[in-house]
Amino acid sequence: MSNIIKPKLIIHGGAGSSLKGKGGLEAVRKSLHDIVSEVYQLLLEGKSATEAVIKGCELLENNPRFNAGTGSVLQSDGQIRMSASLMDGEKQKFSGVINVSRVKNPIHLAEKLQLEDDRVLSDYGSAELLRELNFPIYDPLTDLRLQEWIEERKENFTKKMAGVVAESEAGRGTIGVVALDTQGRISAGTSTGGKGLERIGRVSDSAMPAGNYANAYAGVSCTGIGEDIIDECLAAKVVIRTSDGLSLQEAMKKSITEALENKRDLGAISLDRNGNIVWGKTSEVLLAAFHDGKNIGDCLEWDNDELIGSIDIL
Ligand code: GLY
Repeated sequence: MSNIIKPKLIIHGGAGSSLKGKGGLEAVRKSLHDIVSEVYQLLLEGKSATEAVIKGCELLENNPRFNAGTGSVLQSDGQIRMSASLMDGEKQKFSGVINVSRVKNPIHLAEKLQLEDDRVLSDYGSAELLRELNFPIYDPLTDLRLQEWIEERKENFTKKMAGVVAESEAGRGTIGVVALDTQGRISAGTSTGGKGLERIGRVSDSAMPAGNYANAYAGVSCTGIGEDIIDECLAAKVVIRTSDGLSLQEAMKKSITEALENKRDLGAISLDRNGNIVWGKTSEVLLAAFHDGKNIGDCLEWDNDELIGSIDIL
């Protein structure tokens, strides 16, 4: 039993510029804490980090509050196209789908692709895979997202992206999960409906190593404006800096500082093989919650000037 590690978990439901109203905050908190609680239980039961990440992403995709799976935002042409990826840190293997439609849980496609030679598929290939796997056709559209899009259309799409933190408040929605299991394995998963109102064919960071990356040392899932995350190559940068000898705290701090200097709008959650949990953001709000091995906590009201927050190893 001595080599059994205490599992750790961190999840996010996006980042943004505001989290209006106490009602919004408490509702988001409950959604995130419930999911942390359910997924952490799986880790305690000995499920792998990858299994926990898939389940966590599935639960977040199923919650219409968040911009992934059900509740995804609409693109400029009124269609929903989702992207998701999974990275198994032990195998150092990335898989993902880009701009997939008519599926309930894009993360399940990323899961299936872990076993394939061709592991990242765009829209056409993802649709073929759905058909091959006989996944049921599913419409992730919610009334709220449709109403938001119709309002934007009335204003002739004057905004550059949809507003999505919590209910209908401004933000940059994505969901993500990073887990450390009892065997010391790390995995990361990220899923999104994109920025909203984007032009057809725009590719999100969520199915790129820039937005979702893990190896034996650390795992990171990002949220925020995809182009900013891609320009910083944020997830891969933090993980590689950790592999090269920086502590996770140092790696996150250095990377978020650079992002701030470059005026990026983003956030990231991470953990390492020692059980450190670290998050960082340049945006105002990061909707993240975690299990530190003892308690569930979150960063919903975290607003310090240090750019990163962390939980000490227990
Ligand atoms: N980070 C999600 C997106 O920009 O697509």
